[in-house]
Amino acid sequence: MNIAFKSLANKYGTPLYIYDFDSLQARYLSLKEAFEGQKSIIAYAIKANSNLSVIKRLASLGAGADCVSIGEVRRALKAGVDRYKIIFSGVGKQDHEIQEALESEILFINLESEAEMKRVEFIAKQLDKEARISIRVNPNIDAKTHPYIATGLHESKFGVEIDMAKRMYIYAKNSPHLNPIGIHFHIGSQLTQLEPIREACAIVADLTRSLRAIDIDIKFFDIGGGLGVQYSDEITIDPKAYANAIKEATKGLDVTIMCEPGRYIVANSGYFLTKVLYEKQNPTHRFVIVDGAMNDLIRPSLYGAYHKIEAVEVVGEESPANVVGPVCESGDFFGKGVYLPPLAPNDLLVIHSAGAYGFTMSSNYNTRNKSAEVALEEGKDRVIRARESFEELIRLEEEYL
Ligand code: LLP
Repeated sequence: MNIAFKSLANKYGTPLYIYDFDSLQARYLSLKEAFEGQKSIIAYAIKANSNLSVIKRLASLGAGADCVSIGEVRRALKAGVDRYKIIFSGVGKQDHEIQEALESEILFINLESEAEMKRVEFIAKQLDKEARISIRVNPNIDAKTHPYIATGLHESKFGVEIDMAKRMYIYAKNSPHLNPIGIHFHIGSQLTQLEPIREACAIVADLTRSLRAIDIDIKFFDIGGGLGVQYSDEITIDPKAYANAIKEATKGLDVTIMCEPGRYIVANSGYFLTKVLYEKQNPTHRFVIVDGAMNDLIRPSLYGAYHKIEAVEVVGEESPANVVGPVCESGDFFGKGVYLPPLAPNDLLVIHSAGAYGFTMSSNYNTRNKSAEVALEEGKDRVIRARESFEELIRLEEEYL
């Protein structure tokens, strides 16, 4: 897609997040269609990009939502996601969150420990309800991704091991306030190999069969999220191959397949646009200092993640530069050794693949206000989040002065 970055910068200012809604729709549909002929729910992982307009657009296509806080559940409901396609996960749900989730009649709560199961049962009893639940199983699989985003090994805090899951399912089946209808796992994020997913599916499908054998009627088989995307030259998983592997593993189970993609849908539909403030050269390094910073897009600083960076409408002999922001940390960079032409103040740089875990992980560090967000839709652009002002940023402190 040819995006008019310069006019968007003139119209909305920088730094700026830009999302191509036509692309995110195409990404969603590519996955939905891969599951054709199979009962499926694509529960978009809100954490990747929780802008209400993004969720609304996906909801209008029939997407469900994978939420990890009651705030995300509220966002999903507000944006029009069907409540029976919303699930609530997370290792540390609080009482008020469990209560609201039960009252909101979402599809199910995904349990991550025995203690949490007892808490959900207790709260459901108080509300005189039966809580629909699933259990997050940790299949002890190495997802072969960055250690911070690998979640399927026993060293990770997520889910419960197979034997514990079995005990929990039996307990839940016998409780008048718990209704176990789902099974869940998620082995990690930015997965580029199908094999670990296939292995995990086989393990969890076996468990599902053994639960069925004792009359525990699992209806939803949730494989989590994690489908990787191309940030540079990664070879990614083909959605059809992904869907087929899951169909294969769950053969004969007659379950609704659920998956929870975040990054796959939004990462490459998003751009972060930033403006050059200065260039500076020291004896060994060229620095391009821009108006965006690690508080806006933390992935390079936090994970050493690569994001492609390009100059907008500037040409000239390229040389390597470190693209850095104004924040007072050496870790405040977007890229190192990036080949860029000579740049002048006000030139623009576009940072690619910024639609997932970009804005949602942004902060006010260094009292920097959060960027605006803009959507591109059928050739038009519109704001979907206004730029935060200083007044808004200090609003919750000011009255205590
Ligand atoms: N489902 C569960 C249970 C998850 O924990 C996650 C992500 C997802 C779905 C969505 O994963 P995705 O399809 O987007 O890979 N901030 C990191 C990623 C953290 C992912 C956490 N969990 C990053 O910027 O790479």
